[in-house]
Amino acid sequence: MKIVTIIGARPQFIKASAFSRAASSRSDIEEVIIHTGQHFDPNMSDIFFEEMEIPKPKYHLEIHSLGHGAMTGRMLEGIENILKIENPDYVLVYGDTNSTLAGALAAKKMHIKLVHVEAGLRSFNMAMPEEINRILTDRISDVLFCPTQNAINNLMLEGFGHFDTQIFNCGDIMYDAALFYKEKANQESNILSRLKITAENFVLATIHRQENTDDLERLKNIVEALNYIHQSKKVIVPLHPRTKKILENSHIKIDFVVIEPIGYMDMIALTSNAYMVLTDSGGLQKEAFFFGKYCITLRDQTEWIELVESGFNTLAGADINKIIHSFESVDVTNINFNVNLYGDGQTAAFILDKL
Ligand code: UD1
Repeated sequence: MKIVTIIGARPQFIKASAFSRAASSRSDIEEVIIHTGQHFDPNMSDIFFEEMEIPKPKYHLEIHSLGHGAMTGRMLEGIENILKIENPDYVLVYGDTNSTLAGALAAKKMHIKLVHVEAGLRSFNMAMPEEINRILTDRISDVLFCPTQNAINNLMLEGFGHFDTQIFNCGDIMYDAALFYKEKANQESNILSRLKITAENFVLATIHRQENTDDLERLKNIVEALNYIHQSKKVIVPLHPRTKKILENSHIKIDFVVIEPIGYMDMIALTSNAYMVLTDSGGLQKEAFFFGKYCITLRDQTEWIELVESGFNTLAGADINKIIHSFESVDVTNINFNVNLYGDGQTAAFILDKL
């Protein structure tokens, strides 16, 4: 069985690390990886391939730094050309990026079976490019692998019970990666000493979503809230290039500690040792939970609603008072994270078995 997988952005490299390891352990499966190039800085791409030992992509399209239309369009063309050569049994796409949508469109129009991993997630915010990408990808996929029952419920409400789509609840593939690399991260990362911080004495924050970065009022509010929190606990922010560019061009004053984007091992080391996590990332909300950390989500919605319902996450949006109030009022010592929300960490093997 030949599977072409499409990756291009940071969270997809993390998911691919788990899937590709499982695929390469099976002699009946040939995986061909296409990297679209969407993320291209060494610390947004290469570092993940090196430290997570992800197989080198057979194809690299080097498409990046373009508007949504040009980026998705050029990827679609490039992927279609490769699929003509490879003629796989399946094309597998992850998540919700422009690379996901381009891969999905290319495969489906060539009548190649399309598999979507991390299907069924919804923010119900149609202004997000990610929401558009995931709805369209889900609708044209042949096989949908959902991380949660909530994701399956979303699909059922959209009528998927009437479509000819195979749907599975497989757990979260990012949990596979978190479990696998946990020990390695603790042994290999020295980021705490590099940053001169100690466990539980800092807060980890990230900001990269277009809804926050492209709205200066929201960005200003988030920065102000982080500046305030930094007065009582050091705030460490590995800054995404999107946010960096925008902050450099604005005159927003930053008091907290900004560092370059970091690899997965350093990220896991920071997450698992943080006092709390503040983020607009989807993946980091779950990683905070995997490592028993409370998360304040800097968005108005989340796709990972079970985290909010279970009391592990709060939605504070870009509201300064809400962010600060959540930070000050949550008693992080009094939360029991010992709940299974995302499966058993064997998601990649489950997916391969079903295919
Ligand atoms: C993309 C995904 C988002 C995902 C995120 C993970 C889409 C629509 N969005 O957002 O779903 O959560 O990845 O990080 O696909 N840039 C660099 N160096 C890099 C990568 C990006 O400088 O290595 C710059 C780009 O040139 C661009 C900006 O950062 O100016 C944003 O990059 P882009 O790929 O458009 O989207 P992300 O914000 O990374």
